[in-house]
Amino acid sequence: MANRRTFLKQSAMALPGLTAFGRTHSLENISPNSDNSSSVAPLSGLSRLPSFHLGDETYWDAVRQLYALSNSRIYMNTGGLGPVSFPVLERFRELTTDLQTRSETGHQHIENARIPVSKFVGAKPEEIAFTRNATEGNATIASGMRLKAGDEIIIDASAHPGGAIPWLNQLKARGIVIKTFEPNAETSSEILNRISSLISPRTRVIGVSHITAPTGILLPVKQIAELAHSKDCWFHIDGAQSLGMLPINLREIGCDSFASSGHKWLGAMHGTGILFIREDRLGDILPTEIGAYSDAEYSLPSTFEYIPTARRHESGTRNAPLVNSVQNACSFLENIGLQRIRERGLELTGELRKGLERISNIEILTPKQNDIRASMLTFRSSKMTFSDLNRRLTSEHQLRLRIVTEQDLNAIRVSLHIFNTMEQVETVVNAVGEVLANP
Ligand SMILES: Cc1ncc(COP(=O)(O)O)c(C=O)c1O
Repeated sequence: MANRRTFLKQSAMALPGLTAFGRTHSLENISPNSDNSSSVAPLSGLSRLPSFHLGDETYWDAVRQLYALSNSRIYMNTGGLGPVSFPVLERFRELTTDLQTRSETGHQHIENARIPVSKFVGAKPEEIAFTRNATEGNATIASGMRLKAGDEIIIDASAHPGGAIPWLNQLKARGIVIKTFEPNAETSSEILNRISSLISPRTRVIGVSHITAPTGILLPVKQIAELAHSKDCWFHIDGAQSLGMLPINLREIGCDSFASSGHKWLGAMHGTGILFIREDRLGDILPTEIGAYSDAEYSLPSTFEYIPTARRHESGTRNAPLVNSVQNACSFLENIGLQRIRERGLELTGELRKGLERISNIEILTPKQNDIRASMLTFRSSKMTFSDLNRRLTSEHQLRLRIVTEQDLNAIRVSLHIFNTMEQVETVVNAVGEVLANP
């Protein structure tokens, strides 16, 4: 443990692109790079990971060592909440201590984060607002859309409450009509056809989960964007399950808005998120929760201009170290490589599927094809209720999975991220087999 801590302490300082935290500010200025802190010498933490070879677990074992996760249980619920890596945690602690020592907000760190974070998702800094979670971003879009009674929106039937309730609130408040489509399909074109069949002249918005929470279906967002725009609809993505799980380029996807959590696959601190709004559509979203920092200028009683960027959706005093952790988490994952992370997720879930398929009475609800699946797999058994099975897996095998009660699926979801190992996948398969053999 001591060795691990020492290594991690060193590696915490080694993330390329991480800025230093530093000296006293007499005045808090929130423009980027205004922090005149001293620089931390670049070290070589992540570069000390062994070189990567396909099929070799050594690399991933070393990645796992970069997390504080206890070995007393097997954590496979990143779809619910992702752990932060030691380097990100360490930077958070340092920056918090530094700011508390000086009792300053450190708001310039928020501006500094906007540039690398926007790059991480293929957007411009002006298009990114930092939020507390995905729900906040979804709600900002839903309540800012200026929808009228009778306007229709289309969302996936498996939308998480954090994606669904902001629209349901508009149903209550403004009388909009919500139509849903079932995303569980054999192919992308089937999904597109289902959405297409719901579009009417009154459709204003199409909103989808990038990856569905209950069963981990990856939706064909680029094609949905084309479809939405061909019908003059706004296209919103709830990316809570995708940010940090796969490479994302919002410009290429072509969505109008995208909301995500930082505290799942990205591995930023709890209470973090981002909201993207395409710069040329910024004016279409009426800011609903604003105040200091949302303005370009104001004076009472009647002068007020929004700041001409997505930052208008942020207001008041913020926790800068939280936002800084989003930047550091992006940097951490970039060091490993998003394409590599995507492939690792497919590899781990692929092995899990193979193992579970060997057990009788198991039904796998996640699609098999790589282009419509991701790093989560959901299954159930006809032999045992999902809650009993999960209880036994937790108490007898120390597995932290997630039950799926949505849409009465009554199943269990397994999330597999970069700190999960092939050995753990094998343990899960054996555990499920053992419990089902003695229900
Ligand atoms: C698709 C989806 N949207 C929204 C959320 C809510 O995320 P947050 O707690 O960050 O608001 C989740 C959480 O699991 C989710 O899976």
